[in-house]
Amino acid sequence: MEQFEIAVIPGDGIGKEVVPAAIRVLEAVADIHGGLGFRWTSFPWSCDYYLKHGVMMPEDGIETLKGFHQIFLGAVGMPRLVPDHVSLWGLLIKIRRELHQSINVRPAKLLRGLTSPLRDPGEFDLVVVRENSEGEYSEIGGRMHRGADEMAMQTAVFTRKATERAMHYAFELASRRRKHVTSATKSNGISHSMPFWDDVFQDVAQAHPEIATSKHHIDALAAFFVMKPQMFDVIVASNLFGDILTDLGGAIMGSIGIAPAANLNVERSYPSMFEPVHGSAPDIAGQGIANPLGQIWTGKMMLDFLGFEEMGTLVLKAMEATLASGVKTPDLGGKATTTEVTDEVIAYLRRRA
Ligand code: NAI
Ligand code: MG
Repeated sequence: MEQFEIAVIPGDGIGKEVVPAAIRVLEAVADIHGGLGFRWTSFPWSCDYYLKHGVMMPEDGIETLKGFHQIFLGAVGMPRLVPDHVSLWGLLIKIRRELHQSINVRPAKLLRGLTSPLRDPGEFDLVVVRENSEGEYSEIGGRMHRGADEMAMQTAVFTRKATERAMHYAFELASRRRKHVTSATKSNGISHSMPFWDDVFQDVAQAHPEIATSKHHIDALAAFFVMKPQMFDVIVASNLFGDILTDLGGAIMGSIGIAPAANLNVERSYPSMFEPVHGSAPDIAGQGIANPLGQIWTGKMMLDFLGFEEMGTLVLKAMEATLASGVKTPDLGGKATTTEVTDEVIAYLRRRA
């Protein structure tokens, strides 16, 4: 029996609704498999916690997390009470950086039973590999003066080490898929960091001659996501470009509520963190209608990362069967609740077991 210690951070808003739902699914998976077990330890770190304690997580929070195999996170954010940069930098970005979760992997796939808002989506099945540790989301910069003279500067940071790491991961992933990597660049407008990005891409591509490559400027690439998403296999992107592209990836699937993400520590020196792409959705929180499929798919990615790909594949099948049966939350045009969708996913798993 392989037993995994998982740190759970439900966070705010619908995070507190979809995380318990996905845990029920993963418990069902463990039960069906027999040789796999989870121990869940929940932490209340969130904007609520911030309002009580003045910090998003305690001083020793990162040290505490290091004792776990993986982290399962919902979403943080309470924009009316806590500024988003405080909640994001105080928890999510802190965990990603300090635990060296240097790569963010986000698939987008046309699931059976889902209607894409695109008229002609084709059978798209792509993965965005986003550099997760530097780039445009840097701490270098500042603000000066007030009033009419006020100014702000923020410096993007691109290192060879982090850029290569993201690109190598993308090529290795592509070698297990359809063997194509697209680079998201903008070397026409951004004249230092993006030509550097292109050079590193060319170097890494040479080390993987069996993989075909292409590169597009991010603006054109965003348009292709809408016009011909079927043309992509793996896409490698900087922190900002990857962030924007993956919300679009969620949107063309049919709802941001189903898009999953994994923040990977590829060296496996510290835990990785699995979280959906969506946020805390304050507009629907507390109503019991949040779509749990993004969080469940995130759980599938955790199963894959732990080496239980067969069970991961089964979870994705259960999600598709649930969608095809018409049990859908309102974001997908249905009437089902979070619990009803979760029950249906679990019922499928049990039938197939
Ligand atoms: P959001 O993703 O929370 O919501 C955008 C829209 O999508 C809303 O209309 C919402 O109802 C809908 N939506 C999102 N997830 C859904 C689900 N599972 N089921 C059904 N509908 C869903 O993004 P927004 O509104 O920009 O941000 C809200 C808060 O969440 C902010 O504080 C933001 O900073 C935070 N946030 C946190 C993230 C994280 O923890 N990883 C990621 C994105 C935003
Ligand atoms: Mg985002």
